[in-house]
Amino acid sequence: MYHAPALLTESLEALQLRPDGVYVDATFGGGGHAAAILERLGDKGCLYAFDQDEDARANTMNKPFAGHAGFHFVPANFRFLKRQLRALGVRTGSVDGILADLGVSSHQLDTPERGFSYRFDAALDMRMDPSAGQSAADVLNEYTADELQRVFSEFGEVRNARTLAQACLQFREKGRFRTTSDLTGVCDTVMMGERWRYLSQVFQALRMEVNDETGALEDFLRDALEMLAPGGRIVVIAYHSIEDRIVKNFLKTGNAEGKVVQDFYGKIERLFDIITKKPIEPSEAETKENPRARSAKLRIGIKK
Ligand SMILES: C[S@@+](CC[C@H](N)C(=O)[O-])C[C@H]1O[C@@H](n2cnc3c(N)ncnc32)[C@H](O)[C@@H]1O
Repeated sequence: MYHAPALLTESLEALQLRPDGVYVDATFGGGGHAAAILERLGDKGCLYAFDQDEDARANTMNKPFAGHAGFHFVPANFRFLKRQLRALGVRTGSVDGILADLGVSSHQLDTPERGFSYRFDAALDMRMDPSAGQSAADVLNEYTADELQRVFSEFGEVRNARTLAQACLQFREKGRFRTTSDLTGVCDTVMMGERWRYLSQVFQALRMEVNDETGALEDFLRDALEMLAPGGRIVVIAYHSIEDRIVKNFLKTGNAEGKVVQDFYGKIERLFDIITKKPIEPSEAETKENPRARSAKLRIGIKK
């Protein structure tokens, strides 16, 4: 299976779909969420589905997507949401609901040659869009020790980020990072705690840096706010505390840092009604069935 959708029932409930509405699935992946949305739309409803990974497109060839007049696949980064939707004739302020299920799909993690996983020996790539930007090997070969430390510490919460960054620089004195086993080999020399946890943190940190996942999320949220109609809903599923914090802050204040903005009269401007004071998390039954959903946190905002 390409990917098992997380919090599916909760996402659909959160979107409060109208059969004739205009919706966006910013992270199409295996199309699990998108299929469920499309099945609830009538002849006049529309779904624009984004994914920057070419592999995801193959999933549009099946039912219910193939030949569905209201379905449009957009092979682009969701950070360009507004530009892409406008090019397709969608007006600013006219979208009824936007869903983003962040991160990588099981397909990406389980395809050895994509280099996302320490479980396989493969080239250190980790780009969701392999045609653009720097690979994980580029990051490891070119960043300074300070930059690597920031990546490991900020995105991976790696406890000995400084030591790991220095070990990477020592490795570079002898050669260049090429494969996942080059990286796991360096990790093995400085690792703290359980091996699988340490490697997961390091690989996640690099993936987030390679794909500028927090930067893309911030751009996406800003565009989503503009594209949503008043009363339109944004639903975001995050799997990392940094991303969840960005979403939480944005819904509250309209910026990623959570800085409270006051208008000329000192009144705090609220851009969303927040439905989820606390995020929605998967049930025990769902986590048992789909362990990859365990860290999912879903937040919902209604545009004012
Ligand atoms: C967790 S999966 C989504 C799974 C999907 N909801 C399903 O039911 O199959 C995340 C997907 O979003 C895509 N993605 C992540 N960040 C993206 C971005 N900035 N722009 C476009 N697609 C992105 C990934 O390529 C991946 O296919």
